[in-house]
Amino acid sequence: MTEIPDHLLERTRSRRQALGLPVSGGGDGGAAAATPAAGGGGGGGAVAATGSNLPKGPVAPSGPAAAAAKPAKPLAPYIEASKRRTRIPVWAMPVVAILPLWAFLYAGTLEPPKKTVLTLKEAGAEVYSGAAACAGCHGATGGGGVGPQLSGGAAAETFPNPVDMVRWVILGSAGGADLYAAAGKQSKGGMPAFGETLSLTQIVEVVLHERQTLAGHDIAEDAEGWADLRELVEEFPERGYTEAEIDLIIEEIVAQEGVEIPAAE
Ligand code: HEC
Repeated sequence: MTEIPDHLLERTRSRRQALGLPVSGGGDGGAAAATPAAGGGGGGGAVAATGSNLPKGPVAPSGPAAAAAKPAKPLAPYIEASKRRTRIPVWAMPVVAILPLWAFLYAGTLEPPKKTVLTLKEAGAEVYSGAAACAGCHGATGGGGVGPQLSGGAAAETFPNPVDMVRWVILGSAGGADLYAAAGKQSKGGMPAFGETLSLTQIVEVVLHERQTLAGHDIAEDAEGWADLRELVEEFPERGYTEAEIDLIIEEIVAQEGVEIPAAE
């Protein structure tokens, strides 16, 4: 057997002291170390003896485990392995870093898309070149074609009152010949009636587009005239226009164009 060098024994002793374990006396190594384990009662070291009075603890080890001089309970291998392991694999770092951004973007997709709210004039432009096909006869920018020119103030000249222009679009050439004549123009026909295919709101929209956008007319001159819109409820009972719809249209014009439209009498 090889001798255990003194400095090693000394180190063992101080380690055991530090852990509060009984320290063996001199050079008789293993045998003395085993003593406290064997003696539950009197034989053991002072520390072990007091330990028996205590409920339980690392200070007073008992049983063969203590003999093996293993101070701390060994960790299960899988726990040790988990302590050595890096928590997140390096390759996953960018993925983890991007997660908040992804979450943010994903949350964004959950919200309903923002609706672009068109102004009356903008909606009127869509009616003009879209379903109503006014553009097909009057030109994309109102320059005229089959139908007369609407740009350059022309339409507003024919109908100084914007609601007369609304009436005209509702009636067309067939129903509105008298209106056209009253405006000092001889109807040659060819303008379709839109009362059935367009709502009152759409007609107001397209008239606003023609007067304000195409003809460059000053809306301030029309403000008083727009109040006549309320007359259409009784004038066209077959169309079923309601005061509620008209009030809403007037509110929108006031809000969007910044003009005062006289209240109903
Ligand atoms: C099929 C061709 C055609 C389409 C579509 C058409 N118009 Fe006309 N429009 C005419 C014709 C033709 C006249 C002239 C009417 C007449 O002489 O009786 C006219 C006249 C007008 C006038 C009077 C202009 C003036 O100063 O004399 C206005 C305002 C007008 N149209 C608006 C519209 C609007 C708004 C639309 C779409 C909702 C539209 N038109 C769609 C053919 C058309």
